[in-house]
Amino acid sequence: MMKGLKKWRLFSLLAVMTVFLSACGEEYISTLTPAGPVGREQLNILLLATAIMTLVVVVVSVIYLLAFVKFRRAKVGENHMPKQVEGSHTLEVIWTVIPIILLLILAVPTLTATYKFADVAAMDEVDEDGNKTALTVNVTAKLYWWEFEYPEQGIVTAQELVVPTDEKVYFNLIAADVKHSFWIPSVGGKMDTNVENINKFYLEFDKESEGLKDGVFYGKCAELCGPSHALMDFKVKTLDRASFDTWVAAMQATEGATADANSTDAGEAAFANSCLMCHAVSGSGAAGAPGPNLATFGDRNRVAGFMKHDVENTTEWIMDPEEYKPGNLMTGMYKVSPEEAEAIAEYLMTLSVEK
Ligand code: CUA
Repeated sequence: MMKGLKKWRLFSLLAVMTVFLSACGEEYISTLTPAGPVGREQLNILLLATAIMTLVVVVVSVIYLLAFVKFRRAKVGENHMPKQVEGSHTLEVIWTVIPIILLLILAVPTLTATYKFADVAAMDEVDEDGNKTALTVNVTAKLYWWEFEYPEQGIVTAQELVVPTDEKVYFNLIAADVKHSFWIPSVGGKMDTNVENINKFYLEFDKESEGLKDGVFYGKCAELCGPSHALMDFKVKTLDRASFDTWVAAMQATEGATADANSTDAGEAAFANSCLMCHAVSGSGAAGAPGPNLATFGDRNRVAGFMKHDVENTTEWIMDPEEYKPGNLMTGMYKVSPEEAEAIAEYLMTLSVEK
């Protein structure tokens, strides 16, 4: 009976682990399937560290087991006195030098990579016309959403980062309220977003996201920041350079777009009355709005970063954001009827620069 119970426990543990580990290896979110040189090098360091640790564990275990078997009292006799090695010069040197060598093997590539990833000198480089040569995105983390500003292009978006493939994209990272952390598991990171200083680094995306499961890479907040930390997700769309330029132009073309309180579209009118003071519907402009920019809402992959992207979920979210993302700052900011919420949701779905 006891034996059966133990087996059953082991089986349950394995079953639970299968569920937890089932997302491992998915290329839209896994550090184990890197989609860029930064992620690849980070994975290599991880593998190197794991290999060194495994080597140490195996060697120590083997020596332990050998000693265990070889020097049993039954085998060597009651009165056996082993050779005394206390203060042995040779042994002291061996077990001091081996760890030093192992640490050096780990430290050299780790430090080299750390300094390389922090090299953002190219951020300030300009061409003959004085234009910046590298793409820079200013990331602001807020409770519980992400703002992405492209200062050179004069555009701003939220929740879905759009970047070109096969070039270094530079990031200025900052937080508006508390400490968060910017992480795109399969591409690289993570890097803290602090309130008091800007952290800089770069990433390189070498795969277009279109073929992935949801057509996007997943990004996460990797620093416990409040009750909805686990829901502070964002998505990353990677495009070839030409498609990226098209997207930027479409974003710039939304300049001046706004919602009309006298519109015949009930959703637009309700939006203008209840939402427009915090949420812009033009993607042209600078960062710093109280709420996420909604110019690309219809192009997005998720509602509030994690819910299926449809009118129903958007309506539910507008009606009761606290229910879905506890502690978010939209709670209690406005009052709309269920009919208005649905009309607003339908209007939001029409906001698009890709359709
Ligand atoms: Cu923001 Cu966790």
